[in-house]
Amino acid sequence: MIDKKLEEAFNDQINKELYSEYLYLAMKVKFMEWNLQGFVNWFDVQVQEEHAHGMGMFNYLDERGGNIDLRAIERPEVKGNTPLEIFEHVLEHEQYVTSRINHLADVAEEVKDRAALHLLDWYIKEQVEEEANVGGLLATLRLIGDDKKALLILDKDLAARTFVQPVIG
Ligand code: FEO
Repeated sequence: MIDKKLEEAFNDQINKELYSEYLYLAMKVKFMEWNLQGFVNWFDVQVQEEHAHGMGMFNYLDERGGNIDLRAIERPEVKGNTPLEIFEHVLEHEQYVTSRINHLADVAEEVKDRAALHLLDWYIKEQVEEEANVGGLLATLRLIGDDKKALLILDKDLAARTFVQPVIG
């Protein structure tokens, strides 16, 4: 069994992870328009990661005998009209997700659910990685500035990113 308040917080976070999947899908469309295929690949991997994050919580809630309550996914709004601006939005979004994961851990702590805290440790570490990856990319994009050739080299690098199904928990 799982505490109702924690169940609600998990359901809310499942929605936020699936919204993240949707947001990155919308960002991918922008890069498709610019024909930056490496970035498109980067977002493809990101979309799959967010799906895995959402499903990790979905499966966990089921395992704990909680009620899964799927909610409407908000229409994603992509802020920014350049790769740099879009990645500023990605970082801002990941920082927001980190704050929500921390909130979820606060609730788990409040209801003294050690098993959930153990699971959430994985998500907390994942957020550190997510922010570091995006922060690194953002720094590179700032360095690139208006240099189109350098942007194309970065695009080539990003084509190599592959999705690895995470083992959550
Ligand atoms: Fe699921 Fe990018 O955090």
